[in-house]
Amino acid sequence: MASVTLSGVRKIYHEGVEQVAVHEVSLGVKDGEFVVLVGPSGCGKSTTLRMIAGLESISAGTVKIGDRVVNDVPPKARDIAMVFQNYALYPHMTVRENLGFALKLRNMSAADINDRVKAAAATLGLEDYLDRKPRQLSGGQRQRVALGRAIVRQPQVFLFDEPLSNLDAQMRVSMRREIARLHQELKVTMIYVTHDQVEAMTLGDRIVVMNKGHVMQIDTPLNLYEKPKNRFVAGFIGNPAMNFANGTVEGGGPSRFVAEGGDWEINLPQRVASRLSGARGKAITMGIRPEDVTIVAGPRAAAATASARLDLVESLGNETFIYASAGKHDVTARVSPQSLPPIGSKIFLGFDLEKAHFFDAVSGERIG
Ligand SMILES: Nc1ncnc2c1ncn2[C@@H]1O[C@H](COP(=O)(O)OP(=O)(O)OP(=O)(O)O)[C@@H](O)[C@H]1O
Ligand SMILES: [Mg+2]
Repeated sequence: MASVTLSGVRKIYHEGVEQVAVHEVSLGVKDGEFVVLVGPSGCGKSTTLRMIAGLESISAGTVKIGDRVVNDVPPKARDIAMVFQNYALYPHMTVRENLGFALKLRNMSAADINDRVKAAAATLGLEDYLDRKPRQLSGGQRQRVALGRAIVRQPQVFLFDEPLSNLDAQMRVSMRREIARLHQELKVTMIYVTHDQVEAMTLGDRIVVMNKGHVMQIDTPLNLYEKPKNRFVAGFIGNPAMNFANGTVEGGGPSRFVAEGGDWEINLPQRVASRLSGARGKAITMGIRPEDVTIVAGPRAAAATASARLDLVESLGNETFIYASAGKHDVTARVSPQSLPPIGSKIFLGFDLEKAHFFDAVSGERIG
């Protein structure tokens, strides 16, 4: 087992025009930690992982595995195992042969290979399939064989690049649990790339949110959710996504948030107002999660309410998503099942402002 340390790691591709795929990533993954890299397509997740694996050269900065700088160490000598989205199993080999192949290449004795293959098969519930060929397996079983090939090597670090994206939704959930269990059992350092924020939130001890080659925030799942550092993270983590409204904080009487366009305004509780005192008059963005928006019976001057038009209702059984427009702002609310007026009706939204987030409208950085 080992830690993985990235210091100022950059990747510049020089194909045609110069393109910076990864700007200055610094990240310390502790021994035994499970870290997830997440972000939209093209943000540099795979490139970062491939630099750790040694499959991509490093343009600047250093990558350390344990105490050793590995910038110039070939992939084979880094003591890592990587599982990709497109794991290619050898079709003509049985599961047993697929699992043992890398060990055979290392000239390990047949008895030792057998031991490791048996142990990995037991961990992954593949004992009954060892003599089958890949085409005789389900997608999830094949994915487990791909994981097994990494496990038998007993690497210091596991690297995963979207290993579940070829599986159907149900299989993904069950494989996600397998991987979480595997991490608990093996206690090995794991770095996992995904664009799926649910996978990131459920698997990671810590999550690295990336955008356009930059690290936006490195934090625990709960901190990312509750204290996003900037508007990008706030909008990326959480489903349905956080609601945003641009506006200004106005004084002159009780402090109010006045939405852009002046369609609605809400009074700010004292605690929130004092957090925002430095931002008075400046353009800010209010963010509020759908679960912190409710439907209220009518306007209340003292509380944070806004009138809105009911646009769409999605009933999921255990909860209901409400899509409404307050002036030109779309607002999503996540509420418990309840009877609602017809689409197009005027409703009143209540905002739990103690839970609201505020960002500088220009820089996107969190305020307060
Ligand atoms: N070999 C290459 N040459 C030039 N540019 C590349 C190369 N590989 C990747 N890129 C660019 O680098 C950026 C980061 O790519 P990367 O594959 O790391 O993204 P990603 O976050 O893994 O995205 P996805 O979720 O789609 O897999 C992209 O803009 C991509 O076009
Ligand atoms: Mg990728």
